[in-house]
Amino acid sequence: MDIQIFDTPTQASKQAFTLFEQALGEGANVFGLATGSTPVTLYDLLVKSNLDFSQATAINLDEYCGLPADHPQSYATFMKEHLFNAKPFKASYIPNGLAEDPDAEAARYEGLIDENPVDLQILGLGKNGHIGFNEPGAKRDSVTHLTKLTDSTIQANARFFDTIDQVPTHAISMGIASILKAKHIVLLAFGANKAQAVKAMIEGPITSDVPASFLQEHPHVTVLLDTEAASLLSE
Ligand code: GLP
Repeated sequence: MDIQIFDTPTQASKQAFTLFEQALGEGANVFGLATGSTPVTLYDLLVKSNLDFSQATAINLDEYCGLPADHPQSYATFMKEHLFNAKPFKASYIPNGLAEDPDAEAARYEGLIDENPVDLQILGLGKNGHIGFNEPGAKRDSVTHLTKLTDSTIQANARFFDTIDQVPTHAISMGIASILKAKHIVLLAFGANKAQAVKAMIEGPITSDVPASFLQEHPHVTVLLDTEAASLLSE
């Protein structure tokens, strides 16, 4: 893992933008994208740039179950508002959270990943060490699947909904093995509330208890942190 620490989240996001720009310049054509507050500054920088994604493909990590794509808090809406409306991609994929058969939808989605191998995967990090919606207990060989969110993730995401009862309890998410198929993974984590998960991801054992720790097994991972998120690292 290449660990890079910046004074501020904005500086770390600028570095993520540079990696995106470099990848595009080197012929990368498929971008794995994440939601959450962490990549928002990166997406702002992409929107303000003159980069052209009209021939590129975007594949998102996950989507809530039970929300229509046009729901204000769906990840489909998030991606449109933060990136796709301003910077349309040739194709952009996100799981269908309303699929009647979520297992079939997950299998279809994993097929899309195999047809469009991800060149650069952007990741955030859950407070409990999740990536995508791979919660503690996630298996190394998991592919796209229906998953139940933990109480701590539901609480963390409640800030986007009027009441906690409105937060979806399930999602369709790329699995650990799906994420590890990407050629280059760039994980961003900011703030003191991510420091424990960052330490466990980088310095802890590789374990299902901390799904992000499986990234240690990938040959090309770049971790972009602000000083607060890096504050518990030993060096
Ligand atoms: C969500 C998403 C993740 C994201 C994480 C952290 O549950 N499924 O992809 O990385 O939570 O979110 P944030 O960036 O808002 O802290």
